[in-house]
Amino acid sequence: MRSYMDVVEEVRRLVWPRKLKLFTAGPVACFPEVLEAMKIQMFSHRSEEYRKLHRDTVDRLKDFLEARNSTILLIPASGTGFMEASIRNAVSPGGKVLVTVIGAFGERYREVVETNNRYAVVLRKELGEPVLPEELDEALKKNPDVEAITITYNETSTGVLNPLRELAKVVKEHDKLLFVDAVSAMGAAEIKVDEWRLDIVFASSQKAFGLPPGLAIATVSDEVFERAKKIPSRGYYFDLLLLKEYLEREWSTPTTPPIPQIIGLNVIMRIVEKMGGKERWLKMYEERAERIRRGVVELGLELFARPGYYSPTITVVKTPPGISSTDIYEYMRKRGFEIAKGYGPIKSTTFRIGHMGYIKDEDIDELFESLKLVINDLKLRQSRGNVDG
Ligand SMILES: Cc1ncc(COP(=O)(O)O)c(C=O)c1O
Repeated sequence: MRSYMDVVEEVRRLVWPRKLKLFTAGPVACFPEVLEAMKIQMFSHRSEEYRKLHRDTVDRLKDFLEARNSTILLIPASGTGFMEASIRNAVSPGGKVLVTVIGAFGERYREVVETNNRYAVVLRKELGEPVLPEELDEALKKNPDVEAITITYNETSTGVLNPLRELAKVVKEHDKLLFVDAVSAMGAAEIKVDEWRLDIVFASSQKAFGLPPGLAIATVSDEVFERAKKIPSRGYYFDLLLLKEYLEREWSTPTTPPIPQIIGLNVIMRIVEKMGGKERWLKMYEERAERIRRGVVELGLELFARPGYYSPTITVVKTPPGISSTDIYEYMRKRGFEIAKGYGPIKSTTFRIGHMGYIKDEDIDELFESLKLVINDLKLRQSRGNVDG
């Protein structure tokens, strides 16, 4: 068969007609080592080699997430798949869940609860605010009959990181199950599954691990599996007991896993180790986030999140008065930078700078040079009464 490599170039031109540096909310730019490893030819997920890969990846994740007493599940889905799995497997039909909402992804958890015929009791905060432990305590005192609590660790729409460690302590004082949406936190914010006693923590591959989308990564406690045994209709695809059975029997999954993403995750876990371990890796994220926040403030712009609760993975910025966030986004794109538009109810009043995945310090400096020019130019046009972009 003749080689058709020229079509690869055709597709590349389709999706990457020109160079863009990504500061997105996800998918994010992948690490070059990951992209290289994902070229490895495919093989059977029922082979000995696959089992070794799966087992090694799970072992490394257990260290990274400090989850020695939990089961790590890698499933072919985006993070929302696991959100659904948590409700279907660990809350009885018609049962109550306390859903904490600090933004659009907390609202999504509520929708997942309700569309799966469970009942959501909502603790909702003003956008930009975290949930505070005393508020959670009060909500749990008022609703002692909830079966579980959901928390968005990092709210990607507002750039707020919830104080998970403290919130988890409150949940456990009330002896409830805790499900954590760590989609845009895992890999960048500290997570100690055993010590904080987190029952379900899930994430998506296309965020802080800097991988392509398609893989959900989750930890599940023994208590959740016990609960699942009593839930009558867990379905098939997201049945946690079936997933556990396959993991224990053959270090694999009931359905075909996204092997390239798992190879990529394994590569990232090895990079973390070579870099000097989890602390060093998390510090990289912390330093990057600080650099970006400093850049925003130096431009005279305002951060959206409440101080002290800033996200390590995404910075949400208030759009200057009279300027449209879409104009900022489009103008930055023209200059070679893909940032993220505002999300949910604050879509038009904020824009977002994602800091996950493969980003170099020089790229951050260049981003701010451009952002300065863009904002000044848009302000000038606005003062001249011309905001057409
Ligand atoms: C906090 C949070 N939860 C859930 C999701 C949904 O993730 P996915 O699209 O991988 O299902 C996202 C995506 O941005 C997110 O940021």
